[in-house]
Amino acid sequence: MSSPVQARWGTPLSPVALKVMTLGSGELGKEVILSLQKLGVEVIAVDRYPNAPGQQVAHHAEVVDMTDRDALQAVIDKYQPHVIVPEIEAIATDVLVELEGRRGLRVTPTARAAQLTMHREGIRRLAAETLGLRTSPYRFADSLEALREGVEAVGLPCVVKPVMSSSGKGQSLIRTHDDIETAWNIAQTGGRTGAGRVIVEGWVDFEEEITLLTVRSQNAQGEIMTQFCEPIGHQQIDGDYVESWQPQALRPKALERAQAMALAVTENLGGLGIFGVELFIKGDEVWFSEVSPRPHDTGLVTLISQKQSEFELHARALLGLPTDVSLLSPGASRVIYGGVDAQNVTFEGMANALAVPDSDLRLFGKPESYVKRRMGVALARNNDLEQARKNARQVAAAITVKAAN
Ligand SMILES: Nc1ncnc2c1ncn2[C@@H]1O[C@H](COP(=O)(O)OP(=O)(O)O)[C@@H](O)[C@H]1O
Ligand SMILES: [Mg+2]
Repeated sequence: MSSPVQARWGTPLSPVALKVMTLGSGELGKEVILSLQKLGVEVIAVDRYPNAPGQQVAHHAEVVDMTDRDALQAVIDKYQPHVIVPEIEAIATDVLVELEGRRGLRVTPTARAAQLTMHREGIRRLAAETLGLRTSPYRFADSLEALREGVEAVGLPCVVKPVMSSSGKGQSLIRTHDDIETAWNIAQTGGRTGAGRVIVEGWVDFEEEITLLTVRSQNAQGEIMTQFCEPIGHQQIDGDYVESWQPQALRPKALERAQAMALAVTENLGGLGIFGVELFIKGDEVWFSEVSPRPHDTGLVTLISQKQSEFELHARALLGLPTDVSLLSPGASRVIYGGVDAQNVTFEGMANALAVPDSDLRLFGKPESYVKRRMGVALARNNDLEQARKNARQVAAAITVKAAN
């Protein structure tokens, strides 16, 4: 179990500072760090590459291969943080499990949650087999032969994914038996750890896919409460989110089922923090897809739509502070891609973008652009959700990214 939350903390960069280390410091980590900074917390931002977005706003920056056990252990030993906040999945999580048990280091939400969710098999078996939540039919396979059998079992069409992957990497759709071998090969090169095990999932013919942000935080009496944000609807292209909006209206029965699933899975994972629970919806029917024990990319919309963004909620929850999940206004987010492979890019059109009423913008400050790299996000709010979506698109369209050399 986690050790108690600190009830007092001192000045950053002094011996009485409360030290939080983020493992992964991209655009999501950056916003969490900004929230922690506002509350006078000392932050160590770790990432695989220098000048990552979150490192630009933290007290300390470290470049570490977080999948390397010894390197991860060394950076933790160097700073002795009180709390560790994983932002990405690719971490040697067994080090976190060990330190949480032995040294009472707190991991947000828990080391077990980070470990279970970095692997599709762990979280899928927990959700479907232990908790009995409805999911797509699925099988795991370690060879092309086993994949063929899996496809027979789950039916066509179906989706193949490496068990260790994110953002749609290595994923592909199988429509006919002729696609099986190609899907196997794509998964073998697209996974995080190279060749290996895959999951094959029956296709869910959903109407909406949502992220239900679920917060576990302490109230003033120190009791842990679960709160649900308004559902976020989103559109994915090639496994990557391009647009999200909040609230996504659901039928009452679907909302009830969605919240019950989110409660079951987050209670099991435990700890304090925000979770992004991904669900598929069709009428009253709900399927559990996956969960991130951290802010979710589709939740960037909450920077404009909620009183406290998902990042602020995460920061507050992990510090043991009360949280407020209320919606401020319907809102939308639209991803701004690099559109170009280059270092030293310039951004233009910000004045036109922000002339759109009730809009906002984040440029993440990534040191290098790729065609499909998320470099920023456009945000808009409006009482009319459709107008908010249009405005967010207009904000994004106003920005151009160009190679500077
Ligand atoms: N079984 C499925 N049926 C229908 N669509 C799916 C299924 N699995 C994944 N998808 C689509 O692919 C996207 C990415 O899949 P997901 O499992 O969330 O992978 P990642 O971990 O890369 O986000 C989902 O958001 C959804 O749009
Ligand atoms: Mg996903």
